[in-house]
Amino acid sequence: MAVTDVETFDFSKVDRVLEKYNSEKSWLVMILQDTQTAYNWLPQPVLDRIAEKLDLPASRVYNVATFYASFSLKERGRHILRVCDGTACHLRGSTWLLGEIRRQLDIDEGETTKDRLFTLETVACLGACALAPVLMIDTKVYGHVSIEKIKDVIAANRAPGRKPDTGSTDGSAAQKPDSSSRASRATEKARPRKDAKRGRRGPGG
Ligand code: FES
Repeated sequence: MAVTDVETFDFSKVDRVLEKYNSEKSWLVMILQDTQTAYNWLPQPVLDRIAEKLDLPASRVYNVATFYASFSLKERGRHILRVCDGTACHLRGSTWLLGEIRRQLDIDEGETTKDRLFTLETVACLGACALAPVLMIDTKVYGHVSIEKIKDVIAANRAPGRKPDTGSTDGSAAQKPDSSSRASRATEKARPRKDAKRGRRGPGG
């Protein structure tokens, strides 16, 4: 089904989110966050639906969705692989790590595999620097990542019916980050995009 095929698009998930927040426009960011969790990205028909139900101009909803780096308006895979490129991870091989994943999945940063299973992204410090280099898949953090570990993680997540990883840290890691660290919240927190910090005003205008 084409995602733009509004006639057959499944709006039930976004409708549940809207219901949860009583279609209150003051909850727009939370509505977008929960909606992205439900669809794994923010399809255009969903943004239009949110605008309609909150009685907001579509441009306002689109502005908010593009202002925060954590929102994706591009279709993403079932599993999101995030390579940390913060200072500690960069010094301990994040470039190598990113290159190895690109090679194994045959995709570049920001791309999704043809089978729509994996999307590859980079993020700033995940708050688990002692485990550098760090890889996060869905919400699970893997530290001291090796080639074998990358293969294992990818193979495990290829399994049919495998649900997105949850939990904070891979058990093989030598040191666990604080469960309340940025790592465990990285996918939930709405942060402005880098270009927004350089001068673009907030989504409120
Ligand atoms: S720099 Fe990667 S976790 Fe801090």
